[in-house]
Amino acid sequence: MSTQKGIGIANGKIILMGEHAVVYGEPAIAFPFSGTTVTATLTTASSPTLTSSYYNGPLEQVPTELTSIQTLVQRLTNDYQSPACHITIESTIPAERGMGSSAAVAVAITRAFFAWQKIAYDTKQLLAYVNQSEVIAHGNPSGIDAAATSGHDPILFEKGQPFTTFALNIDAHLIVADTGVKGKTRETVKDVRALMEQHPQTTLATIQQLGQLVNDAKQAIVLNQATELGMIMNQAHHYLQQLGVSDATLDNLITCARENGALGAKLTGGGRGGCMIALAQSALDAKKIAHKLTQAGAKSTWIQELGVYEYA
Ligand code: MEV
Repeated sequence: MSTQKGIGIANGKIILMGEHAVVYGEPAIAFPFSGTTVTATLTTASSPTLTSSYYNGPLEQVPTELTSIQTLVQRLTNDYQSPACHITIESTIPAERGMGSSAAVAVAITRAFFAWQKIAYDTKQLLAYVNQSEVIAHGNPSGIDAAATSGHDPILFEKGQPFTTFALNIDAHLIVADTGVKGKTRETVKDVRALMEQHPQTTLATIQQLGQLVNDAKQAIVLNQATELGMIMNQAHHYLQQLGVSDATLDNLITCARENGALGAKLTGGGRGGCMIALAQSALDAKKIAHKLTQAGAKSTWIQELGVYEYA
């Protein structure tokens, strides 16, 4: 049996602005979060198997949460008539925390598969497989998680359109905090859809306000206005609360960040658990806020410099 190996890597992602509204065609800003990564390794095997911190065994018997991986590997194997493979997944992306873990795992596996089979591919082919896998994981994905976890640059994303890269040229630091509670993207996306059906006018108005805030945020970033961006993040969180996708754990950390000097704070990703983000003017403020968030119950925190690097 061949000992040939294929390795694929992907990043976690953070949505700065525009989650949920992006499902309805509004723009969103997201960036690959290199603080967290996933590596998939594929080798030839007699039958398909998976080794991960979550599950270890035959691919046919994965728990429901991993059926998107099972289907992805079946599709790749059928499409390219490849032998069976053993997959090893090593990840520092917390699962189901709004960091795009499911998309990142799919990106890493697809890349590893193409490397293992020595198949040349382009981004469009990669994203087609990842988006199919995301339909199983999330029901009705906009595609933003696939786009952000597979690239290296911040993106301005609109569903169904080619996304553009976008420099986060703003003199500020972003704190990311994990509530430690599993997010429920599939459920929140479904609930926003139900809200849209029950109260179309008010829900659409909220979604459009979120879209407008993304445009305002883009402008604040281009003009390096961190204080404005913070205020825009606060407004976005208010609208996300109206959509019913926040919860007490997220709101508690968001209030804590604001009370401790954050320029603004909001949930990121699907919500109802998962992660929140806060904007701080300086590295020192960011450290202080991260510390306070940990004291308030955050399971992990990360600090990302957004930086106007020319002036550094
Ligand atoms: C999840 O990371 C982002 C959502 O907007 C869903 C999606 O865009 O697919 C909540």
